[in-house]
Amino acid sequence: MTETLLMAEGLARTFEGSRGMFRRTTRVQAVAEVDLVLARGGALGIVGESGCGKSTLARLLLRLIPPSAGRIIFAGQDTTTLDERAMRPLRRRMQLIHQNPSAALDPRLTAEDAVGEPLRVHAVATGRALRERIAALLSEVGLPPAFLHRFPHELSGGQKQRVCIARALALEPDLLVLDEPTSALDVSVQAQILDVLEALRARRGLAYLFISHNLAVVRQVCERVAVMYLGRIVEEGPAAEVLGAPCHPYTRALLGSVPRLVARRLAPAAAGEPPNPAAPPAGCAFHPRCPVAVDSCRAGVPPLADLGGGHFVRCPRTALVGG
Ligand SMILES: Nc1ncnc2c1ncn2[C@@H]1O[C@H](COP(=O)(O)OP(=O)(O)OP(=O)(O)O)[C@@H](O)[C@H]1O
Ligand SMILES: [Mg+2]
Repeated sequence: MTETLLMAEGLARTFEGSRGMFRRTTRVQAVAEVDLVLARGGALGIVGESGCGKSTLARLLLRLIPPSAGRIIFAGQDTTTLDERAMRPLRRRMQLIHQNPSAALDPRLTAEDAVGEPLRVHAVATGRALRERIAALLSEVGLPPAFLHRFPHELSGGQKQRVCIARALALEPDLLVLDEPTSALDVSVQAQILDVLEALRARRGLAYLFISHNLAVVRQVCERVAVMYLGRIVEEGPAAEVLGAPCHPYTRALLGSVPRLVARRLAPAAAGEPPNPAAPPAGCAFHPRCPVAVDSCRAGVPPLADLGGGHFVRCPRTALVGG
């Protein structure tokens, strides 16, 4: 029996604001009805077009922003009911890796200082033990001691991302949330960082929530994948199945838009313009772009149906388009 590390139920987040000259009120449902389960040591990929809610989902799961509805269970605790003080011991167990390592690192701190900071703040180690711990962490991400005293401007993009990963590992987390961790890097460097991440997961039993536009990368790193469209998960299941034999018309469009699965970015995933998130289409939000939509697709948001084998799809037309 695999142990569940992270679970979300009915997770939702709405952003409200007023925009433009006439201060019109806008309401964007960035995340809606998200249920997910991440096993301890597992890797779940989140894919979907720009603006579909991937980063918002990541921030919700890390409790960096509160949800509008739903609950999140991390290591058996309902984090949606915890205040910041009660969250503190859990915070060190969940770490975020950003797309842009340059923005994540303080330009005034050397690699040694950056990796050592969380260890000092949490009084984990001092003096020689601290220095040894930092060197071991940097070595674990493939940076030899020569890099200890380098500042961010003296590091390449890939080396900076390695420092960010070492820093995230310092407090021995259970979960890394990786938000496009390699998309700012060259393809060759991207492969090296993915190797580092795969080795770390195997060695440390870390769980990954891995957000990426790159479906080939997700397939390499993750056992499971969830496809999001306008805030909702439209298909979820074993990565090889969802990306190898997709059922939802949107997942099919997403895959069709990636020539040979090596494209770095996904530009228009499906025919037609992506919808305005402040005025989403009624019913299945994908219906205006869907090649197999029928009138009933406008009627209501379809439920996530269980296809068996841990594969779920939010499309009643699946039986017609799947296979
Ligand atoms: N703080 C905010 N205030 C208002 N709207 C927001 C805020 N953060 C995100 N949104 C909106 O929520 C939706 C989802 O945004 P999010 O950043 O989660 O998308 P994403 O899938 O991560 O996109 P990308 O692939 O471009 O990073 C978008 O419509 C976005 O404009
Ligand atoms: Mg994002």
